[in-house]
Amino acid sequence: MTALSSPLQANPERFWQTVEVSAGIGVGRPGGLARVALNDDDRRMRDQFVQWCREAGCTVTVDAIGNIFARRPGRDESLPPVMVGSHLDTQVNGGRYDGILGVLSGLELVRTLNDQGIETPRPVEIVSWTNEEGARFSPPMVASGVFAGAYALDWALDRTDDDGRRLGDELDRIGYRGDAPVGQRPVDAYFELHIEQGPLLDAAGIDVGVVTHGYAAHGVIVEVTGETAHTGPWPMDKRRNAIVGASMLAVAANDIGWRYHDSGGKGTASRLVAWPNKPGILSDWAQFTGDFRHEDPARADAMLAEFREAMAQAVERSKCEMRELDHWSWRPDIFDADCIAAVRDTAARLGLASMDIASQAGHDAYFMARVAPTAMIFTPCRDGITHNNHEHATLERSLPGVNVLLNVAAERALR
Ligand code: GLV
Ligand code: MN
Ligand code: MN
Repeated sequence: MTALSSPLQANPERFWQTVEVSAGIGVGRPGGLARVALNDDDRRMRDQFVQWCREAGCTVTVDAIGNIFARRPGRDESLPPVMVGSHLDTQVNGGRYDGILGVLSGLELVRTLNDQGIETPRPVEIVSWTNEEGARFSPPMVASGVFAGAYALDWALDRTDDDGRRLGDELDRIGYRGDAPVGQRPVDAYFELHIEQGPLLDAAGIDVGVVTHGYAAHGVIVEVTGETAHTGPWPMDKRRNAIVGASMLAVAANDIGWRYHDSGGKGTASRLVAWPNKPGILSDWAQFTGDFRHEDPARADAMLAEFREAMAQAVERSKCEMRELDHWSWRPDIFDADCIAAVRDTAARLGLASMDIASQAGHDAYFMARVAPTAMIFTPCRDGITHNNHEHATLERSLPGVNVLLNVAAERALR
């Protein structure tokens, strides 16, 4: 039994037009976006999103870490809302769809409910989370993490970018440090639609991925301290070159990824910075960022342990000091069985082929799962290419997932 008399259908042209407007804000390399969190383009996109939501009759609330909640009222405002959304920030060389499809399909849900004049007992909220990518302020998903109580608000507001600018100050600068408290906002259920960011759906020719769980992940930032010296006269046995120490960590992270390759594990050296990083001089400071992911949490833990062993060896070999500045992690098996089943059943009811799939990327849904029943819907992207300006999705292959989101969220709001 379903409460809707007939399934909701997104308006394809209207939905895709919002994606195309977004694709024009913060243009990066050809075909891609560089809408890094809290830059001026992020502000323009936020303003556009807020305008669309207000035009659709929503009340917009911004919390103290810049998360935006657009609320379509329910008949009973005392009931917790059904929440849908994702993020509008992108990587430095990001695509047009990562996160964006999830937020804009939430907008399409509200617009479709309006078109049909459907009142729901529960409110419906579209959320756009701040700084999902972690491209500018580490760690990723920092603002949904605060919402879920995983991180302290002040700690998150104090995250700095490469130029030393604080996340909190940048929120003030773009006018998105709101006054609503972060969290303490009961949520009935959270649904996030996202491109798969992997090749499986595309290869299988299936448009709807039912996300059953995520990979476990550990991210680390290590500070390496050495000593500056002349590259000519200074003897090899006295050198404490921070670039060398950090490079050893980079190679170790990659080697660990290969050791777990057969079982789908990934080890990544994602960032390496150094100072003074100039010809003719050894660097006395470097910072390494990497991450380790595996479907099996015990193996993700083992990868991290191997990295820490490699770090001890790198200290000996490079004669540098090393200090773990930051460590973050997330674990799988967190999505709600009923919400997962609702996604799967809704796809079947709409006559859509779907397949169960694991998420290898991080998502705000991981943190939301700590505070509300949560599930995710994946849609295909060409060849799984993502975090790349060639990331590509089509309306035709996104629409089935969008329609699943519309119906699963509307049915839940009608309960
Ligand atoms: C975040 O999106 C991650 O997967 O690191
Ligand atoms: Mn994303
Ligand atoms: Mn991303």
